[in-house]
Amino acid sequence: MSSTALNTKAAPSYCQYQWMFCTAFSTLVLHALATLAQPRGTTFQSIGNPILADGSYYSADPAPLVVNNTLYILAGRDEAPPDQNNFIMNEWQMFVSASPNPTGGQWTHYPGIARPNSVFAWALQGTAYAAQIVQGRNGKFYLYAPVTEANSRNSDRFAIGVAVADSPLGPYKDAHPSGPILSQSVPAPGNNIQNIDPTVFVDDDGKAYVYYGTFGQLRGYELASDMATTVGSVTTVSSLTGFFEAPWIMKRGSTYYMLYAANNAGPNSPCTPTSSHACIAYGTASSPRGPWTFRGVILGIVSSTTSHSGAVEVNGQWYLVYHTADAQGGGHFRRSVAFDELRWDDTQSPPHINRITQTKRAQPNPVPTRNIAPKASASSVNTTPIQYWVKSLNDNRVPTNPLPPDYWCSYDGNNSPKMSTLVYTWDSAVTLNGTRMTFFADQPAGSNIGVPPPASWYVEYLNAVGTWEKVANTIAYPVAVTNSPREVPFKQISTKSIRAVLTASGSGNQFGGVGVKEWEALAPTAQ
Ligand SMILES: *[C@@H]1O[C@H](CO)[C@@H](O)[C@H](O)[C@H]1NC(C)=O
Ligand SMILES: *[C@@H]1O[C@H](CO)[C@@H](O)[C@H](O)[C@H]1NC(C)=O
Repeated sequence: MSSTALNTKAAPSYCQYQWMFCTAFSTLVLHALATLAQPRGTTFQSIGNPILADGSYYSADPAPLVVNNTLYILAGRDEAPPDQNNFIMNEWQMFVSASPNPTGGQWTHYPGIARPNSVFAWALQGTAYAAQIVQGRNGKFYLYAPVTEANSRNSDRFAIGVAVADSPLGPYKDAHPSGPILSQSVPAPGNNIQNIDPTVFVDDDGKAYVYYGTFGQLRGYELASDMATTVGSVTTVSSLTGFFEAPWIMKRGSTYYMLYAANNAGPNSPCTPTSSHACIAYGTASSPRGPWTFRGVILGIVSSTTSHSGAVEVNGQWYLVYHTADAQGGGHFRRSVAFDELRWDDTQSPPHINRITQTKRAQPNPVPTRNIAPKASASSVNTTPIQYWVKSLNDNRVPTNPLPPDYWCSYDGNNSPKMSTLVYTWDSAVTLNGTRMTFFADQPAGSNIGVPPPASWYVEYLNAVGTWEKVANTIAYPVAVTNSPREVPFKQISTKSIRAVLTASGSGNQFGGVGVKEWEALAPTAQ
């Protein structure tokens, strides 16, 4: 069943959420009454990734946990309004399935199982960032959570707390009420990093380890048997190529694995096309304290700029759990949890993780459109600065408040070029009779700094004799910044390639950048 179908179904009044399967509700109520302290769950049927895709609850930074052959996925909750580019995260939630399957299945959703300021008396509300729950040797569940300290003299107030519960669903109680177990001043002063993204692993011998960090900094400690006190000195990991954030430590056989979000932006990047993207890479070690050896990339970029993963084995099958912006109304700050099968290559030593293929729920048939640019490959003749992405020219998305990877731009500080040329190439000849360009600007027309609207532009096509020829346009090329620009119709052409030549606003040696959210190539009829 599609989420659209669920949304249009008349929901009985006792249904809290449109996507809920009400048949299961009474059972859940009885269960909730029997265990009063536990949060109430609602069941729903997923039809593929993202697990919950209707936009009723966004879910980010997943951390999987397996208890009694059941998959628990702890996640934060994104609450940013559409087009607001910052994280609003006030609570953690849980998704639970006894028969997880990336192509669909039944899940129970427990919203709001914990909030930073209700679990930790010393924490502020908000910043319910990437947390993880692990089961200790005593059977109890420990929540490692990055929160913001209310009273702190640290230059960065992020800190990691630990809370404990008898059930993975809580209720969670601070296991270290005196304050965080990790911050810029705990366990010792001199830690200058941002202390978030904890990952914890309990080894077969009962010893536990915590790793954490972001912005390229990865640190680790052994934990005492109380699961809340660090032991000995810090381990600083610098051998994991492109480490950015989101570490995930686990063990298979005798090998320790560290998964992480990586950014290796640059011309020879193995995984990220821009400086804001992340892929999931991993390294291995023969000891939980390292040394760690980079092994490769297992998940390409996702539709959100951030990426965050965890992996577990459930009933003999390994899964990688991650997040995307693929839910209805989703975005970089409105992410949703997805998961896919993770497979091992046991012919390698240590065993490698094969590259993971992202799967998505069935998508509605695309609406016929005259814009056939998404079928072309896009390139720019001049170098695209690393924060921008040429592939966003023809992604069929016109964001209102884009991040740099959501548009193409020539802005290069004080060295933005006067001329830029964008090229579309199709595999075989196409027929076109119009074009449209949607500009991004953060400066007024005529400016020679930042990103003003361009001074002018025109389109050429590769003609029958293989030379660039201007299209015969019937109106002037508009440069106004609007998300619904006028079409520039032109005399019908047949070609394998077109290019747009843009002149930046400015003069002399000082030009603004040119920003393009979308460039449409319009065929005579919708297809
Ligand atoms: C797992 O199973 C054991 C034994 O039946 C039970 O005591 C425990 O409560 C279960 N744990 C969870 C989280 O359901
Ligand atoms: C281009 O195609 C559209 C849609 O079929 C049509 O309305 C328009 O008249 C055509 N324009 C030219 C210049 O051929």
